[in-house]
Amino acid sequence: MGFPKIRMRRLRTNSSMRRLVRQTSLSADDLVEPLFVRPGEGLKEPIESMADCYHFSPDTAAEEAAEVAALGIPAVLLFGLPNKKDEKGSEAWSEKGAVQQAVREIKKAVPELLVITDVCLCAYTESGHCGLVKNGKIDNDSTCELLAKVALSHAQAGADIVAPSDMMDGRVKYIREALEENDFKDVAIMAYSAKYASSFYGPFRGAVDSAPSPAFAGTGLADRKSYQMDVSNSDQAMQEIALDIEEGADIIMVKPALPYLDIIYRARQRFDCPIAAYNVSGEYMMLNSAAQAGLLDKEFAMMEVLTAIKRAGADIVITYFAKEAAKLLK
Ligand code: PBG
Repeated sequence: MGFPKIRMRRLRTNSSMRRLVRQTSLSADDLVEPLFVRPGEGLKEPIESMADCYHFSPDTAAEEAAEVAALGIPAVLLFGLPNKKDEKGSEAWSEKGAVQQAVREIKKAVPELLVITDVCLCAYTESGHCGLVKNGKIDNDSTCELLAKVALSHAQAGADIVAPSDMMDGRVKYIREALEENDFKDVAIMAYSAKYASSFYGPFRGAVDSAPSPAFAGTGLADRKSYQMDVSNSDQAMQEIALDIEEGADIIMVKPALPYLDIIYRARQRFDCPIAAYNVSGEYMMLNSAAQAGLLDKEFAMMEVLTAIKRAGADIVITYFAKEAAKLLK
């Protein structure tokens, strides 16, 4: 056996041959486009830290959503900014919040497009943390109660899927119970299950002004390491995912994607539920900046990265490249 009977290059001779034996294919169906919404009207303001990304108001978010749907992308993921931050992040569950309004506007304009909402407090709290600060710590259980209120307010506005990104223990249970009790049985939960304390969220924190307050410098609250996962761990990711499924998550997520393909792969081997991977802002800007500097071909690199995330085992890829990729896939 072996060479020359076997020549691996035979199956690479031309593009039809390569298509025939291709194992992983990317489709617009796999993609989710994140959108940033803030209070106001008629807004489409470029986000400084993230190329080709914008702050929309609820009305223009609906216009953008229509474009996303026309490209064959099945879902958007909404992130919100408040008018005013406070200690508890109370605008996060306000009926009149930018996210709640945007959900209503989008569902009215494009009913078939799925609306996923980020459930978290970090853009809404003065501390910039995803949970409540009590006695110098992030208080887990009282945060979960507020997160359930946030998720419920999104469901009431018409969200199809709520996506808690805070990494508190038990939040999926709290949210699932609140949804059941209020007759939102069909609202799905996409849990950011294995979310790492990563450097790659930098551009996003610029976009929603959600970095931990500089007042915490030198304390245990200077970063998110007391709730987001330690970069070095893999087994713990499996435990996090298993717990979220047990608590009622319908879709689980690994985040970031590119530096954690091993985690996506492991999760795929072990769990049967849909797996989402978040190609986060730092991954997005790393590629954009390299392309901008003329160091690599943007479209080629983008498709390579998105395909790699799927090949590792993700069913759903959340990416700021969604529209651009969907255009190429048409
Ligand atoms: C907030 C949240 C973050 C992201 C999504 N939800 C940032 C963070 O945890 O600090 C990051 C998304 C991205 O970088 O694209 N909990």
